[in-house]
Formats: sequence, structure tokens, C-alpha cells
Amino acid sequence: MKNFLTTRDSDRTELEKLIESALRFKQGGDQSQPLSRKSVALVFFNPSLRTRASMQVGIYELGGNAVSLEPGGTSWTLEHRDGAVMDGDKTEHIAEFVRVLERYCVAIGVRTFAALKDWKEERTDPVLNAFAKYASVPIINLESAMHHPCQALADMMTIREKLGEGRKRVVLTWAWHPKPLPMAVPNSFALAAAQMGHDVVIAHPDGYQLDEQLIEDARGLALGAGGSLEIVNDVNEGFADADVIYAKSWGAKQFYGKSEQDIVHRWQYRSKWIVDEDKMALTNNAIFMHCLPVRRNVIVTDGVIDSPASAVIDEAENRLHVQKAVMAEIFKG
Ligand code: CP
Repeated sequence: MKNFLTTRDSDRTELEKLIESALRFKQGGDQSQPLSRKSVALVFFNPSLRTRASMQVGIYELGGNAVSLEPGGTSWTLEHRDGAVMDGDKTEHIAEFVRVLERYCVAIGVRTFAALKDWKEERTDPVLNAFAKYASVPIINLESAMHHPCQALADMMTIREKLGEGRKRVVLTWAWHPKPLPMAVPNSFALAAAQMGHDVVIAHPDGYQLDEQLIEDARGLALGAGGSLEIVNDVNEGFADADVIYAKSWGAKQFYGKSEQDIVHRWQYRSKWIVDEDKMALTNNAIFMHCLPVRRNVIVTDGVIDSPASAVIDEAENRLHVQKAVMAEIFKG
């Protein structure tokens, strides 16, 4: 494995091997230190709890050293566009940033969220791809505009741990949130669940469709792996007979650059699109999942997140183990 940009960089067998490796790390059966005396850069354009802490701990446990940088904070503001005339507020180009950093570090992890301003541009993951273009060392995506593969891999591991192997009815449900959020987590969850052969149901209000190409790809992957992909606009229909309820909010494509319109438009969904005890009662004793951070009693009620069905803390723990598995795979040589 060179880069880890999306779960599509790996096929189903490779994803299953990564999950098995993560389970060995979790159970203490793998004490290998492939990063011994090596440093890994972690570049955070955006805030983080889980990703930053689990990457730093994971690199340490693999024998390495983490170098955390925040462009515009602890390092210079960064330009990513080729040919840019840098007479504005950007001080350094990713071309130099990456080429310097890789003289010190054997891999670079990058977190760069969507700005929710220009759908056509942001759907191409321009900042992450600029890192991949200029780097000769591996790039690990720690959540970009369109993908959060480490989260999705931890999610697939958590489903396997909680419910065993095999095909499950896995429901990704949009949830109301006071402001629009990026689509990286729902994109990657849908894609990975499809790759693993689950029956994927995506429930969202009309107007909150994910990227058409991504859905087409995920549908093809699900069918190829013996699963399916269905989209519903009725929240109760989505919850029916679910084995997994995965909640996430995201912004509507048509409102990129017009977030105030999305905020007004989504208000009608506030009381309906929340994960609560009544909706969980429609499921097949589903587990509840969310990538965190989550707004209690907005996305999910206290009653659900504090119930035995909630897998959110195990899901967060599994970020550590899957990221160690990814780094161990990259540096196994
Ligand atoms: N789930 C997740 O990526 O959490 P952080 O944003 O806290 O890293």
C-alpha cells in the first residue's frame, strides 16, 4: 500500500486483512514496531480529538514519533493551487511544504475538511490530492472534503465485532444539525459498507443526496460483493429492520456557498430526523453508531446514546487499532 486516501484504494480482501490486523493490535497479539526511529507528520487544517490523539498514540505504539502541524497556526498558511500567484494570504505552497516535510518524515497524515463553498471543486478533494501529487512518501487521509477512510475502517471493524461477520442491514441516516456539515463521513461509510457486502440503506430528506458518482460506485460495489444499496426519503422506512443505525448530518450540495439557505431549509426536519427511542424500536435491535463528536438531543437522544445499543465509544477506540493496522501495512517492508 502506498497511500491511504479512500477505502477504494483497497479491495474487500485487503480491507478484511486490515480489520484482522487491527483486531490483533487490539488484543495485544501484535507488538511490532515498524515505525521504530521514524517520524510521521500529522497536518491538521481543522480541529480533532479522536484522529489526532489516536494517530499520536498509534505512531508512538508502533515505535515512531508524531510531528503535528496546523497550517495557519503552528505552520505557515498553505496554497494548494498549481500556478497560483501567491499575492494573497497564503505564505507557502504545498509543493515546498511536502517536499521539505518528507526530508524529516516517512509519511504524512492530512486532515482538510470541505469548506462547503464550491461543490464542483470540493468534490474533487483538491487539497488532499495536492499532497498526494507532490509527496513521494505515503499520504494518509485523516478526513478530507470527500472521504474519511480511517473512520470507515473503524466503523466496519466495530460492526464485525458487535454483530459478527456477514451481511447486515446497515442504515446511514441523515440527522438534523443546526448547520451544514461536510459529507466525508457518510461518503466513506456508504462506500466501505458497500465494499463489505452489506445491505446499505441511505435515509435522508429529499434534497440531501450524496454525490451521484459515489452512490453509483457504491451501488456497483455492493452488488458485486453480494449486498445492495437503497435510498429512502422516509426516516421510519429507513429504520425498519435495521441491524445498524449510523447517524450523521451533512449539508445539501445545492446550498454549497449559501449555508444560510440550508440552515433555513433544514429547519423543517428538526424534530423528525433525530435518532430517538421510538425510531430505534423499529429496528432489529440495532446498534447505534456515530463517528463523534455528536450533539446530544439534536442528532441522538440521551436515551439512545447512553443505552447498551450505543457503540460510539468502542467505535472511537477502534480508530487507534485500524490506523495502526494501516501504518503497519504501509511500513511492513
Ligand atoms: N471522528 C473523528 O474524526 O473525530 P475527530 O474529528 O475528533 O478527529
